Amino acid sequence: MVPSTVVYVAAVPISVIVALGLLRKWRSRKWASCVSNTCLRGKTFLITGANSGIGYETAKALVRRKGRVIFACRDIGKAKEAIALIRKEQPLGGEMIPMQLDLSSFESIENFVEVVKAGFHKIDVLINNAGVVVPLNQDLKTKEGFEIHFGVNHLGHFYLTNLLMDLLKRATPSRIVVVSSTLHERGNINFDDLNIRKEVELAKKTGGGSRHNPGYSNSKLMNAYFARALACNLRNTGIDVNLVCPGFCATNLFRYSIKWYHYIFMAPILIAFMKTAKQGSETVVFCATDHSIEGKTGKFYRDCAIYNSKYNFDKDVETKLWNVSEELVKARKPL
Ligand SMILES: NC(=O)c1ccc[n+]([C@@H]2O[C@H](COP(=O)([O-])OP(=O)(O)OC[C@H]3O[C@@H](n4cnc5c(N)ncnc54)[C@H](OP(=O)(O)O)[C@@H]3O)[C@@H](O)[C@H]2O)c1
Ligand SMILES: *[C@@H]1O[C@H](CO)[C@@H](O)[C@H](O)[C@H]1NC(C)=O
Repeated sequence: MVPSTVVYVAAVPISVIVALGLLRKWRSRKWASCVSNTCLRGKTFLITGANSGIGYETAKALVRRKGRVIFACRDIGKAKEAIALIRKEQPLGGEMIPMQLDLSSFESIENFVEVVKAGFHKIDVLINNAGVVVPLNQDLKTKEGFEIHFGVNHLGHFYLTNLLMDLLKRATPSRIVVVSSTLHERGNINFDDLNIRKEVELAKKTGGGSRHNPGYSNSKLMNAYFARALACNLRNTGIDVNLVCPGFCATNLFRYSIKWYHYIFMAPILIAFMKTAKQGSETVVFCATDHSIEGKTGKFYRDCAIYNSKYNFDKDVETKLWNVSEELVKARKPL
């Protein structure tokens, strides 16, 4: 007979796992998926960061429905690998085009747009998905010297979107989907220090320290402001602009900040609360394709439904951020 202590010792982890599984199941009731399934043949989608995580799963869903997808990726090799993987699963899916785009360099953005314009007359849906999270003590900057989150997540996409506007206008009704995060609610925009030198210096002194990364949250808030300004500027032009929070998902996003041993401590939380990248992509696909929201613009979506942000958006900040971003793009350096 098995000694009773062994039974007890085994019962604890087993019941914990079962409980976590049930918790996940209960939570996932709200994780809606995009049910629309119309054929996307003839439509061109451009996704930044399509080689990994949410961008990859979004691309796969669009290709399955025969959409043509431009993979705008920092590493062209990774773009090709992603395309080969999807092609294997979807031999009859839509066309996939790998293209090099490094959002941390204005020159790369300009070259990319030239290549796109040479090959495509119109873009039906632009999905600003790429994003980075880097611990602030690393003090990473873009080629032009902007703080990495500000430069890549906000300014790079700001510039890219503006350069692609002609192509989007030719495809109306067209769409822009901006992937933000509910973390924008923790963001803050300080026009005197957009490159958050103070926070970076503090992080360098304390060795990274705080788990909350203000550079990232601020950039996600700027994504939200940018999308709102754009929606407003483009009202009645046939270009809809909407924001998405994909939810907390298992992707490569936290590669710089998470060590392997964190996974052991965090496993219970991850099992119970974390979406897969595919589950995270559902709302992005919804905003990019669903007919029911055609003509609706300037909204935030989460779990395929409108999300009411707790952030108190300010119209002056919105215009000022737009103006300052335009100036910075012109100046090609922090002012
Ligand atoms: N995962 C979450 O829990 C979560 C939650 C809320 C919001 N989001 C948002 O979801 C979006 C997608 O993130 P993810 O979770 O799918 O992360 P991910 O797996 O790390 O994918 C990020 C993508 O962005 C690309 N990228 C990074 N820097 C770039 C640059 N300078 N130029 C061009 N591309 C660049 C990456 O390219 P490489 O592979 O070459 O690095 C990768 O393809 C992000 O905007 C993120 O803020 C994620
Ligand atoms: C933004 O720029 C426009 C045009 O240059 C100007 O009229 C407006 O006052 C500026 N707004 C803010 C808040 O800076």
